[in-house]
Amino acid sequence: MDYLDLAPAIHASGSVRLPGSKSISNRFLLLAALAEGETAIRDLLVSDDVERMLEALKALGIDWQRGEDNDFRVRGAGGVFPVKQANLFLGNAGTAFRPLTAALALSGGHYRLSGVPRMHERPIGDLVDALRQLGADIRYLGNGGFPPLEIHPAAVKAGGRVTVRGEASSQFLTALLMALPLTGAGATVEVVGELISKPYIDITLNLMARFGVAVERDGWRAFRIPAGARYRSPGTVFVEGDASSASYFLAAGAIAGGPVRVEGAGRDSIQGDVRFAEALAAMGARIEMGPNWIEARAPADGRLRAIDLDCNHIPDAAMTLAVAALFADGTTRLRNIASWRVKETDRIAAMATELRKLGAAVEEGADCIAVSGGLTFVPNASIDTYDDHRMAMCFSLACLGRVPVRINDPKCVNKTFPDYFERFVGLVAPVIAIDGPSASGKGTVAARVAEALGFHYLDSGALYRLVALAAIRAGVSLDEGAALARVAETLPASFEGGRIFLDGTDATEAIRSEACSAGASKVATFPAVRAALLGRQRAYRQAPGLVAEGRDMGSVVFPDAPLKVFLTATAEARAERRYKQLIDKGMSVSINTLLQDLRERDARDSARTVAPLQKSADAELLDTTAMTIDEAVAWVVERVRRRLPQAAARS
Ligand code: DC
Repeated sequence: MDYLDLAPAIHASGSVRLPGSKSISNRFLLLAALAEGETAIRDLLVSDDVERMLEALKALGIDWQRGEDNDFRVRGAGGVFPVKQANLFLGNAGTAFRPLTAALALSGGHYRLSGVPRMHERPIGDLVDALRQLGADIRYLGNGGFPPLEIHPAAVKAGGRVTVRGEASSQFLTALLMALPLTGAGATVEVVGELISKPYIDITLNLMARFGVAVERDGWRAFRIPAGARYRSPGTVFVEGDASSASYFLAAGAIAGGPVRVEGAGRDSIQGDVRFAEALAAMGARIEMGPNWIEARAPADGRLRAIDLDCNHIPDAAMTLAVAALFADGTTRLRNIASWRVKETDRIAAMATELRKLGAAVEEGADCIAVSGGLTFVPNASIDTYDDHRMAMCFSLACLGRVPVRINDPKCVNKTFPDYFERFVGLVAPVIAIDGPSASGKGTVAARVAEALGFHYLDSGALYRLVALAAIRAGVSLDEGAALARVAETLPASFEGGRIFLDGTDATEAIRSEACSAGASKVATFPAVRAALLGRQRAYRQAPGLVAEGRDMGSVVFPDAPLKVFLTATAEARAERRYKQLIDKGMSVSINTLLQDLRERDARDSARTVAPLQKSADAELLDTTAMTIDEAVAWVVERVRRRLPQAAARS
């Protein structure tokens, strides 16, 4: 199985722009599809669950287009779906399955809806029962009360009252409310039993109102859709950042120093999960909020406290609290979370099983979980994620327990947050990017800075040198970009204990030959070679941090590096250093030849069109012409200390 290993992390800080909210994205898409007129949706979440909704809408005859970035245009049907027969596969997307079931039941067509096996274990009987009260003809194709479903055309009763149970999922009420305006006749929905996850109903009502349907309500018991209500496009709508996704980053800030800032959701958000920040504050975290951002830092004394919380209002973000609880003094109790049992997996059981792997004492109840804190983490736990994006994201926090953690099937985050792990690692593994010309001494300086900080070290030039060496050995011409890119893609290189290996044999000295130096500079001019090495370089970013040296570390490979240094020296000084090195090794060279070679290589590295060697505006200049190596190392370490005090605490 695919897995991701997270290195022990000691600190988290930085800022993250949140992807769009899943709940808002899928609601906007359905409302825009049913509305009169065209809707421009900006910042839509692009993830598996939203893709399922987009595919379904296309199959149902809704015309939509993707524009730049995550901007979409949807031409509404102005009522029920135009296509009257369709077979829809909705994966594991509850936010697509439930609302589409209701809208299709009132659309007068013949439809089949199915999903992945887990979707067929997630109950939908409460919604079907409610729709049948309206005369809808819905049949179970598998087990009674669960998908897959078949919908037949039926005469829907206009007006009247519908009852729906509120205890299992608020999505049933959401689905009914969003679909009922299709009857045009008005209706009242009464909720039976306690309604869970109420803030999601607030989102539904808020978005319906933006599309012209104002629902009248009696608290949480009854909701009335006025007769004649119709959806009309408001023109352009913006999707807020996902407040549930914010929880992992905020928790990281609360656990491991911070500040961590999330952008895209804040005080003005319509999502209930922004109240996750209050739960963190109750644990002692220091929280600040703006209209569309939230920032979290660890408590002043560094110690989080256990809490006892009814989590009805934050069911998804509450999972993050269960993992944060490991870092708190005392036992955290999370109550009123029955809905966890019927989500992507049985989240109470899954959470308990995986928390125990980390060494925690966990008690689970029917609708609650208790997690002991103050943990000494078990290293190398292999965390299963149950095809549940939130399990994967929550458990990334475990590496802040200063232990290595393996996350199995990490790609399940594609459901709502495809690049989650890149963003998370960005917070726990700061990059110090050191770029500069050949023989500037940046290699020695970077390696020593990495050692001083306890960070990982990437010599990106060695990768280009290895490509040149592998190509020379394989007889591949250094002028053939495509062939060189294939060499780069499959480069059998490894770095162990300061030695560099190609195909299992030590190539540490071989790649420093003049032939490899000149060859590396040549192969590095091909965009396809650079692209082939990009992922490999980024994989070096691991907690507690990385010192990466090369030509384009700050500009291309790690543009978000919190510290970028452009390290240089005059060509004469560099030629003289290289000359001394070679003489020490007993090699006879002419200093003038060295100087000329360096100038040629500088010219080629600076003049190439892709990722040329240049000091970027946000890099600090370090001219080492008159400096010793010790002085240069001290200069960089001092900058790291100032910029990233906690990350540099070990040095
Ligand atoms: O740093 P070095 O001398 O080992 O680099 C060898 C060559 O690789 C150099 O001529 C330019 C190229 N290079 C690059 O283009 N981008 C990098 N990030 C690192 C090196």
